[in-house]
Amino acid sequence: MIDTFRRSMLDQQRAIAPGPRTPPWRLLLPNNNSPLDFLLTNQRTYGDVVRFEFFGNVVHLLVHPDAIKYVLQDNNRNYPKSETYNQMKSLLGNGLVTSEGNFWLKQRRLAQPAFHRQRIASFGTSMTDATERMLTQWQPIAERGESFDLSAEMMSLTMQIIAKTMFSADLSQESAAIGRDVSAAFTTWNALTEARIKLPEWLPTPNRHRFNTAMATLDKLMYRFINERRVSGDDPGDLLSMLMNARDEETGEGMSDQQLRDEVLTIFLAGHETTSNALTWTFYALSQHPEVERRLRVELAEVLGGRTPTMADLPNLKYTLMVLEESMRLYPPVWSIERRNLEDDRVGGYYIPAGSYIVLSQHVTHRHPAFWENPDVFDPERFTPERAATRPRFAYFPFGGGPRQCIGNNFALMEAQLILATVLQHYRLSLVPGHPVVPEPMITLGQRHGMYMTLAAV
Ligand code: HEM
Repeated sequence: MIDTFRRSMLDQQRAIAPGPRTPPWRLLLPNNNSPLDFLLTNQRTYGDVVRFEFFGNVVHLLVHPDAIKYVLQDNNRNYPKSETYNQMKSLLGNGLVTSEGNFWLKQRRLAQPAFHRQRIASFGTSMTDATERMLTQWQPIAERGESFDLSAEMMSLTMQIIAKTMFSADLSQESAAIGRDVSAAFTTWNALTEARIKLPEWLPTPNRHRFNTAMATLDKLMYRFINERRVSGDDPGDLLSMLMNARDEETGEGMSDQQLRDEVLTIFLAGHETTSNALTWTFYALSQHPEVERRLRVELAEVLGGRTPTMADLPNLKYTLMVLEESMRLYPPVWSIERRNLEDDRVGGYYIPAGSYIVLSQHVTHRHPAFWENPDVFDPERFTPERAATRPRFAYFPFGGGPRQCIGNNFALMEAQLILATVLQHYRLSLVPGHPVVPEPMITLGQRHGMYMTLAAV
């Protein structure tokens, strides 16, 4: 009794955030999307700072835009990625997404020029060319009235685009097969990291075997990009050249093969999975909201009149962008970001002890009723410049924020706008009746059963 009293006094002094008392066991059930429901339900029950414990770890879910700004931007030095992202290293190595500190900063500065607006503007034609090649392959499917998995098509398309623009590599003949390896790597990585009982890496479980096989194929591909460039001696000025030409200021040495592989694989994976999911969810949302699709088609007809879009058209495709933004609000390709604080802190009036796992979830903040009216409704009008200006910047953060903000955000938006505009001018996509659409929250927000669609020429 006295203990409980003392603890509650201490809790008041330290203002321990509210949260569920029992561990979230149901998150351990295989094949469920309950991380999404779990986070949302707890925010609705306990408020904008929720504390829970998970296998001895203290976790804080921070939901308010001010807290997100604080963690990602204002006090980012106290909230590094390290440790939290260590598990991801088996997938991405020590590249831009997972590295930290001065090493990360050096690599980020090195890669940044490849993403400057002017530079990515030159990628427009590669993006629309690849899309048009895909549309040619869709023709017989449309004529036969067959259904197909749109998510696999979008993966394949965005993969070809990232390979072409960043590494000058042509994957048009192999992207479907590589897509299967990427998908196997992600799924098995997820299963291995989520397993509560961690088996040693050398134990040849079926999942470990599938993971190792998929990673070996991806490794081979990355080293192929690197070796082909070495042999040809070409310098097309792409990201691969920038990375390969970089020399350390002090030692004059170039990047090791391992480091090159890590950076190249990071861009390859981070640069296509996310955009692919954004597009798949957008086509799904359009198939469910004919009035939005109609309006979008009016814009496409007015601005393009059937012509292939170019970079110069993008500023005029305003509604197209609003549709994409709204789709990434409801279906954020990256649905949560994690950090761990180095020192004790106070956020939103609550004590956050050093070493807490910090969860910032786009899925939750993008549905916060204080910032989004009728948050579950798909409504691109939320993204008119006037309405967007009334919201705090971090009420919407599909690309994160602060120094670790997505390096590819402009690239992704431009690519998604061009692909959406090109595809819709040829086809209307309809969800196969009865197809179960179930979000699959892995590193990115995928679809558990794919996204089966049929096509009608327009
Ligand atoms: C719709 C598409 C995309 C979404 C939603 C997205 C989302 C994000 C988010 C939320 C982060 C921050 C993660 C964190 O702070 O923990 C991030 C980082 C990153 N993204 Fe993206 N991304 C997208 C497309 C791309 C593309 C196209 C590329 C490359 C061409 C890319 C490369 C990266 C890299 C390298 C990082 C790490 C940056 C750093 O820490 O310096 N992303 N992305």
